[in-house]
Parts: sequence; structure tokens; C-alpha cells
Amino acid sequence: MHFGFFSSFSPPAWHAPSDRMFGDDWWSGEYHARLAKRAEKAAFDFIFFEDTAGVSRTSGGNMDTDLRYALSSPKNDPVALLSYLAATTQRLGLISTASTTLYPPFLLARLYATIDNLSRGRAGWNIVTSSETEAAQNFGMDELPPTDERYSIAEEFVEVARKLWASWDEKAVVKDLEANFYTDPSKVHSIDHEGKYFKVRGPLNSYPSPQGTPLLAQAGGSPRGRDFAAANAELIMSTTIGGVEAMKAFREDIHNRMRKFGRDPRECRIMYALHTYVGDGFSEFRQSITDAQLAPVLGKHSAHLGVDLTQFNLDEPFPDHVVTNGTTSMLESLKEKGRRGISLREAMIDFNWGDNEIGAVGTAQSVARSLIDAMEEAGGDGYIIMATQDANQAHLDGIFEGLVPELQRLGAMRTDYSGKTLRENLFAF
Ligand SMILES: Cc1cc2nc3c(=O)[nH]c(=O)nc-3n(C[C@H](O)[C@H](O)[C@H](O)COP(=O)(O)O)c2cc1C
Repeated sequence: MHFGFFSSFSPPAWHAPSDRMFGDDWWSGEYHARLAKRAEKAAFDFIFFEDTAGVSRTSGGNMDTDLRYALSSPKNDPVALLSYLAATTQRLGLISTASTTLYPPFLLARLYATIDNLSRGRAGWNIVTSSETEAAQNFGMDELPPTDERYSIAEEFVEVARKLWASWDEKAVVKDLEANFYTDPSKVHSIDHEGKYFKVRGPLNSYPSPQGTPLLAQAGGSPRGRDFAAANAELIMSTTIGGVEAMKAFREDIHNRMRKFGRDPRECRIMYALHTYVGDGFSEFRQSITDAQLAPVLGKHSAHLGVDLTQFNLDEPFPDHVVTNGTTSMLESLKEKGRRGISLREAMIDFNWGDNEIGAVGTAQSVARSLIDAMEEAGGDGYIIMATQDANQAHLDGIFEGLVPELQRLGAMRTDYSGKTLRENLFAF
């Protein structure tokens, strides 16, 4: 199986009293460099950074919850972090999120080509369309465009970016001293793109990067989002929410959509983001979670959903009638749990701490076995281990000292890299 490590360029585990100073230097990049080195030593395919672009006001209509619990801010720009990690790691893939609703395509294409150069071919772009009104309002809009239109913009955006990455032929840089040519002008082409949303002349002005096109990752959950992912992505991410059945259905659905777009399902890796808790005593921990500990979790998910979760009763199932212009697929999971009679409290604990549905909670041996079994049953290419604010010292040790060696012992996880680039490693088996 392939493994990614999910992170965020924001404070880790600041609220765990025993780990008060753990990762306190996160803002300098050093904490994430240490994390990336650990992931590289364990031969993870990549480290992945989520991103958002605003201080959320979803909870209670003001910024208090977001700022108080450090939910989506402070957060530094993860694309800048990748250049630091490019210098502090050698083999690990480096994926960061950037939004097609907020960036201009030229700026993004040049930025990722530069990261791909700096990392010698290890860059990946997680394509998102954004789900926060606050982000829209930082970029001259009053509201985000509706979900479907965001994906129409994203389609054209990716088309432009691909054209830009292809605007230099492979052998364009000749460095021919005798003929006095650094670059052969006949091998660099304008793109002259004029579409509904973008007008870009091109070509790109950066050095042609090792991968050419950075690895394209996506995690659309809505029907339109899944179509977009199936048409464009090489790495499609979902979650383990809903268990093996949901994972299996997701993969089958993506494969059908890929075939619809004339793509071979083998052209894309499907990986599931999961919360795991490796160690004893999760059920006691689960029982001990207080309303105060849940408050930041509610705040975080309110921001993702674009729905203020504090208005609902924690001990009742989530109601079926709620709608959002935010993350629709996550709302669907919440409603689905609600229909099964699972309370909002239990759903939040599952989403945030440990996914009981596929048995990702327990000893290293039992979690490793569960991950293997779930993947065999559901099909798919691996997992992205999520550890953000719950990534305290013990949690990370459980993953890197417990789970990883066990998976490697069972032959379910590689112990070294075979390729040089992110794409080579992700498609090595
Ligand atoms: C593993 C994973 C990582 C994601 N990372 C981000 C992110 O960094 N920023 C963001 O705005 N959305 C992120 N999302 C949300 C998706 O891009 C997408 O908006 C969501 O799954 C809902 O799908 P939809 O937009 O088609 O409704 C992520 C989703 C998953 C499953």
C-alpha cells in the first residue's frame, strides 16, 4: 500500500497539556521539517498539506472560535513551506493545496513548476475549489460561486495550467555555447488561451521542471467534484468515513467516471484519509472527551461545512434537512450517520480522533491488520494518515514507531523508495 501523511502548516497539538511546547516552532517550518524527515525515513510516498485562505466566521458569526482554538488560523502558506521541505528532505513527495477559485493560473503554474525544480521532481498540487466564504471575501468576491460553477472554473484552470506546463518542449533548453543558445526559441510556444474564465498568452517563463506537470491530486466529493477528479487527477483522495462499503462504492464510482472520460483506472491512485489512534485505551479516552474538548472540533467542522454546528443538539442525530454551499460530501456523511441514529457527538469524535468504522484504533498489530483487511475488501491504493492538532508526541510515536514497522514487517508498506520523482514512486507498484 502507498502512504501519505496529512498535515497543515498550523499549530500542532498545542492544547494537549503534556505537550505544551511540542511543535511550538511550527511557524518557522522546523516542526514540519522534522515531521517530513520522519515520514521520509518511514518511506511514505508524500507529505500533504491542506489549506484554506481566511479566518473563519462560521461559528457564531464571528472570528472568536477560529482564533481562540487556532482552527484555521494562524496558518502559513504551505506552498512556501514546500520549498523549505525541498531543501530538508531528499525523497519524500511534497503535496500542497491551492485553490482554482482564488489563484490566477499563470501564478500557480509557475509556482508549482518552481517547487518541482527545487525538489527535483517531488511536487504535487492538491486542486481545491475552496469552500469558505471568508476566502472569497479576501479575493474581491462577496460569496463563492456555487459548487458546480467552481468546478467549471477549475476545469478551465487546469486546462490552462497544463498548457503552460507543456509550453516548453522537453529539449527546449539546449545550453549550446557554440551556437550561442541557452534556450532554443523554436521549442517554446505561446498558448494563446482565451476561454470563458481565463485569458492567458503564455508561455511559462520558468525552467522546465523534472516532472513537467506536478502530480495532480484532488478530493472532490460531490458528483461534479468526482467528475472533475476522474477527468483530471492522478491521485484521488476520499476518507474512510462510512467504512469499507463507502470506500468500495467511492472507488467503483471513480473508476466508472474515469472510463466515461476515456481514462484507464490504472492511471489514478485512490487513497483514503484516515484518523488512526495507535495505543491502548481509546475507548476510555473516547468516554472522557468533554464538551470543552469538542468545542474546537465543532468549530473546525463548522468552517469546513459552512454550517454552524453549535446550533444542533450534540446528543441527537444530525438532522437530514440541512444544506450548504460548503463541503457537501462531508455534510452527506454527517446526515448518513444521523440516519443511522449516531449522535452528532459520536460523529464528531469519529471524524476527529479515530475511525472505529474500519478498526483504525487499537494496538499497532490490530490497526495494521485492519488497514490491510479494509484495503483488500474495498480495493484502493493506500491511506493518508491524518494528524493535525491531535498530532502530539505520543500520537506520532504510535504511528512512526508502532504502526509503520508493523506494516513494513507484514510487507504492506515499503521500506525504501525506488523512484526519484513523486510520480515514479506513487506508480512504482
Ligand atoms: C483528503 C482531503 C483533503 C482535502 N483538502 C482540502 C484543502 O486543503 N482545502 C480545501 O478547501 N478543501 C479540501 N478538501 C475538500 C475537497 O477539496 C472537497 O471540496 C470536498 O471533498 C467536498 O467535495 P465537493 O467540493 O465536490 O463538494 C479535502 C478533502 C479531502 C478528502
